[in-house]
Amino acid sequence: MEMKETFKTSGAEATIELRDDVIVKSRVPKQYRVREIDEHLRRERTKIEAKLIAEARKAGVPTPIIYDVVNCEILMEYIDGVQLKHVLDAKLSERVGELVGHLHTAGIVHGDLTTSNMILSGERVYLIDFGLAYFDQSTEARGVDVHVLFQTFESTHEGHETLIKSFVKGYRKTFGGADDVLQRVKEIESRGRYRTERL
Ligand SMILES: Nc1ncnc2c1ncn2[C@@H]1O[C@H](COP(=O)(O)OP(=O)(O)O)[C@@H](O)[C@H]1O
Ligand SMILES: [Mg+2]
Repeated sequence: MEMKETFKTSGAEATIELRDDVIVKSRVPKQYRVREIDEHLRRERTKIEAKLIAEARKAGVPTPIIYDVVNCEILMEYIDGVQLKHVLDAKLSERVGELVGHLHTAGIVHGDLTTSNMILSGERVYLIDFGLAYFDQSTEARGVDVHVLFQTFESTHEGHETLIKSFVKGYRKTFGGADDVLQRVKEIESRGRYRTERL
């Protein structure tokens, strides 16, 4: 049997732990909130996150299988692979476009589309981290989703123009509303430029 490296990471919102091949994602308490309210909010948010991970999977997007949701913890499948940020190329970017297209077709907005929240495992690209995801069919929400991804391409990947082109190719394949959203992405970009110029 191969030995997997055990790991534990913690961000602002959650800790991630690998326990016997199972990933345990726990939403951490916020000290500034009244305890009862904080518990309630974390439980609700955890349930929604698990629901969205499962819904995305039904829509044809590889995501971890959910094993259980207990209080503020999600127990899910461990995806053995490499974060997409380390291996991204044009072909994989097109695949990402297809997946985001499936997601948006299903009415889901991911909310944090970065190449750290994608794992290449074998031939498959998995989307993870639905901690900021929500159901929304608006062009604006979808546009911001894609905009965040393009910003990641620009700041962390060489040849971002090629990556964007490949993404668009995939996104158009699986999502009928792609061109409206891509138009909105351009508008969002120019709003950003406008703000920067005025600073
Ligand atoms: N199901 C999983 N399988 C493998 N690795 C995971 C899984 N879930 C999370 N990770 C790893 O833990 C990191 C943080 O998890 P994530 O869900 O993105 O939480 P955060 O909100 O802290 O970003 C991910 O970038 C990934 O490397
Ligand atoms: Mg993450």
